Amino acid sequence: MSRVGVIGAGYVGLTTGACLAHMGHDVVCADIDEARIQRLNKGEVPILEAGLPELVSAGIASGRLRFVVGAPAASADREFVFLAVPTPQGDDGSADLSYAERAAREIAPVLANGTVVINKSTMPVGSTRRIQQVLEESGLGAREVRVASNPEFLREGTAVHDFLHPDRVVVGCTDGAAAARVAELYAGLEAPRLVTDPQSAEMIKYASNAFLAVKISFINAIANLCETVDADVREVALGMGYDHRIGFEFLKPGPGYGGSCFPKDTAALLYTAEQAGYDFKLLQGARDVNEAQYQRMVDKVANAVGGDLQGVRVAVWGLAFKANTDDLRDSPAIEVIQRMLAAGASVRGYDPSGAARAEQLAPGLEVMTDRYDVLEGADVLVILTEWDEFRWADYVKVADLLNEQRIVDTRNLLDPMAMRRRGFQYEGVGR
Ligand code: UDX
Repeated sequence: MSRVGVIGAGYVGLTTGACLAHMGHDVVCADIDEARIQRLNKGEVPILEAGLPELVSAGIASGRLRFVVGAPAASADREFVFLAVPTPQGDDGSADLSYAERAAREIAPVLANGTVVINKSTMPVGSTRRIQQVLEESGLGAREVRVASNPEFLREGTAVHDFLHPDRVVVGCTDGAAAARVAELYAGLEAPRLVTDPQSAEMIKYASNAFLAVKISFINAIANLCETVDADVREVALGMGYDHRIGFEFLKPGPGYGGSCFPKDTAALLYTAEQAGYDFKLLQGARDVNEAQYQRMVDKVANAVGGDLQGVRVAVWGLAFKANTDDLRDSPAIEVIQRMLAAGASVRGYDPSGAARAEQLAPGLEVMTDRYDVLEGADVLVILTEWDEFRWADYVKVADLLNEQRIVDTRNLLDPMAMRRRGFQYEGVGR
C-alpha cells in the first residue's frame, strides 16, 4: 500500500482520495478552503456524489483518509502526489494551468526523493512537461521527482463507480519505472492499462471528451433533421446503436451538452489546434451545433405558446446540467432559462438537488423547493434535466395546476402519445 497525497478536494480530488483509501492506500487530501476541510474531517461531503459520503466516512474511520489545509501538508513524505486542482477556461479558450503550477511551486520544497507527481485534472498537452519544469525551477535540488499524466474519466454522479470500474487506466510518463509504479496504484481494478508518453496520455483525455461531444452534437443535428422529415430520433438512435462500431451510448438528443468538462475541454482542444496551425472544423462544428441547440429549445417553448415569450409564465423542471448531480456549471438549463428571461418570460424553476444558486446564475429566475409549486398558473412546463422523478410525477395534478396544459420535454422523458391522450400539448426533441 502506498502513501498518497491529493491536492484539491473537489469532485476529482475527493473521489480519487476516497477511492484510493478504500483500495487500501494511506491518503492525505488537501484543499485551500479551510471550512471545506473542517467539514470533510467530520465526514461531511460538500457535493452530491453517489457513494462518496460512505467512502469518506469509512476512510476517516479506518485512519487511511485525512484532510489537511494547504498543499505542502499533503505532500511531504508521500510516494505519490496527485494534482487535482481546477484548470478553468481562459478568455481565449485555453486551459488555465496557474492553479496546478502554483501547487507545484508550493510542494516542491517538501517532496521526498522519488515521489511521483501525478496530473489528474484535465490539463493541456504539454502540461506534464510543464509541471516537471516548474518543480525543477522551484528547488528540488538533488531530489528526483517525476511527473506523470494519469487522466480521470469520471462522470459526475457516478464518479465513485467509474473510478472503481474504469474502462481503462492511462498513464503517461517519460520514466517507465515511475509509470509502472503509478499503474500499480490501481492494482485490483480490472481494466486495461495503457502506459504511454505524457503527450499521448494528455491527448487521450481531450480526444475522448471531444469525441463524446461530437457524438452528442451529431445526434442533436439528426434530431433536428428528424423533426423536419417526420422521423423519430429515438428509433433512429436505436437502429444506429445496434451497429457495434457506433454503440447505444451518448446518442440521446437534448438541450445540448453542458457540465464542467465538455464545453471547457472542447474549447481547450480547439485552442491547442489553433496554436498548432490546424483548423479543427469538425470540433468547431460540434460546438456550433451545441450553442444553437440552446436557442432551439427556447424557440420550441416560444412556438408552443404561440410564438412570443413576452409575459409568458414558464415553469421549469430541472436546473442541474444532468440528472443525479447538483452541479450547475455550464448547465444547458441555465442557458435556456437565461434566454427565456431575456425574451420577456417569467420563470420559476425546481430541481431535486435544490440548486438555489441558480438564481444568481440566471437573475430573475425564482427557484422553488416543491416541484408542483412552480406549476401554479404557469403557461407551459419545460423539462430541462432528465431526473427520474419527473418521469413518475402525478400528471393529473400537473394538468390541474398549469394554466395551459403544455409541456416542452427537452429530454424526451415522457411518452408523447400518453401525454397527448391526457390532453397535453406535448413537444419533445426529434420526434
Ligand atoms: C464527462 C465525461 O463523460 C467524463 O468521462 C469526463 O471525465 C468528464 O466529462 P460529465 O461531465 O460528468 O462527464 O457528464 P456526462 O454524463 O458525460 O454528460 C455530459 C453532458 O452531455 C451532459 O450535459 C449530458 O446531459 C449530455 N449528454 C450526455 C447528452 O445530451 N446526451 C447523451 O446521450 C449523453
